[in-house]
Amino acid sequence: MIVAQISDLHVRRAGHVLHHMPNTASYVERAIDLLHAMDPRPTLVLATGDLTERGSPHEYRRLRTLLGRLEIPAFLLPGNHDRRDALRRAFADHAYLTTCATHASYAFDAWPLRVIALDSTYPSRAGGYVDDERLAWLDAELCEHPNRPTILALHHPPFRTGVRALDAHGFLNVERLGEIVRRNPQIARIICGHVHTAPMQPWNGTLACTAPSTSPQFVVGRSPLGIGLEAAGILTHEWTFDAALRTSVVRIDGRYAALIA
Ligand SMILES: [Fe+2]
Repeated sequence: MIVAQISDLHVRRAGHVLHHMPNTASYVERAIDLLHAMDPRPTLVLATGDLTERGSPHEYRRLRTLLGRLEIPAFLLPGNHDRRDALRRAFADHAYLTTCATHASYAFDAWPLRVIALDSTYPSRAGGYVDDERLAWLDAELCEHPNRPTILALHHPPFRTGVRALDAHGFLNVERLGEIVRRNPQIARIICGHVHTAPMQPWNGTLACTAPSTSPQFVVGRSPLGIGLEAAGILTHEWTFDAALRTSVVRIDGRYAALIA
């Protein structure tokens, strides 16, 4: 059982180029090639936000075309570059996106795991955000399945990652999120995106990590934001035979499919 995490795709409409992230669509294509080449293949793909650059209908149409080639079920979560309503409209067949009216959070079974995706976005806010309603929803979801190993996914990491330009935006109500996490030891991992690099650290009794971006990476410690030379990548979260969750960074340029004779 493998959950593959892709993040921060930043898909743009064709012809729209940003100098620091050229041709993000081709990066998505390479990520899909990687996912298809993996053996065993992931059971599902979870995309943890910044699916598009501006959240426009054009961009979501292009994202939809790109993901149409993916042979593995995909679940989407918005990031601060996305627009919740436009995402829901473009992916109307992804019914889980409307589980909650005011935020795009949802939960599902991926036996033996449970996955909870928590929407941490708020319009025009770059940093993380959770309010009473989202916290109550999360608490109730966790209470329902207290003994199931759970992956909690959100776009914004709840810890300071060292990417100073993004840490500076803060995360509203992160302390209250931490209280809930501390009370629920079934949370095997918190998985996030946003920082385009892969720090991980203990947080309120679990391990919290962020995924590399499928597009260019950010440099830890820089403000303003710096673009690094690391290869793009994904995370895999694999439930192992000894009943533990193993998280790995897989680089997209890492010649994953090469065989040693
Ligand atoms: Fe991003």
